[in-house]
Amino acid sequence: MAFADTTADMGVLDVMGSARAMRWFRPDPVPWPLLEKVLWAATRATNPNNLQPWDFIVVQDAEVRARLGGLIATLTSGRPSPVSPEIDPTTRRTYTGGLHLIEHFGEVPVMVFICGTRLVRAGSDRMDPMYSAVYAAAQNLLVAARTVGLGAAFTTLHERVEPEVRAVLRIPDDRFLGVTMPIGWPAVPFGPLTRKPLDEVVHHDRW
Ligand SMILES: Cc1cc2nc3c(=O)[nH]c(=O)nc-3n(C[C@H](O)[C@H](O)[C@H](O)COP(=O)(O)O)c2cc1C
Repeated sequence: MAFADTTADMGVLDVMGSARAMRWFRPDPVPWPLLEKVLWAATRATNPNNLQPWDFIVVQDAEVRARLGGLIATLTSGRPSPVSPEIDPTTRRTYTGGLHLIEHFGEVPVMVFICGTRLVRAGSDRMDPMYSAVYAAAQNLLVAARTVGLGAAFTTLHERVEPEVRAVLRIPDDRFLGVTMPIGWPAVPFGPLTRKPLDEVVHHDRW
């Protein structure tokens, strides 16, 4: 896999520090070779016993995107807006962006749906091995998108219309639908991520 034509000239830590959830996209199409790169990165993620229990549905077809966009748009119809005057600026940004994404989901140039295959271990019905793989792949995809200048967002927007989304995408009944990831050229700047400082979350030698 060659990376010579990547647009960004950033180190991996800079990329990780600014790979914000992008919810505002330009309508321009994304070339397949670039998508291939970010999907390649997704499939390099760590996963249990290297079983790679993931599948990626990449939707670019305008008609399919419009159908999915129509389904996602129903999430806000008839509901009061959660963007009230008293919420803090960070939550306001998340809600405003989230609503914009829902209302314009059908216009996003690329939608990637990440599915998982349940990993059966003798004597265990735990699902976390599968989740771990799907979410690690999603994070790799997010960071790789930022690396090549694309924006992406980790979402679970399918959850409240999952039967309908599964039917459109023909997802087999035995597969888990974990992540709905819009991808495209960003229409707003990335900016730095806001996360807790290390000294709030790192414990030395014991809690
Ligand atoms: C499990 C999970 C579900 C998420 N679902 C949504 C979603 O449905 N819609 C959305 O806009 N963002 C969603 N996000 C993105 C987060 O809201 C976002 O990463 C967080 O608010 C921090 O923002 P930042 O990544 O831009 O710093 C989700 C993230 C995770 C890990």
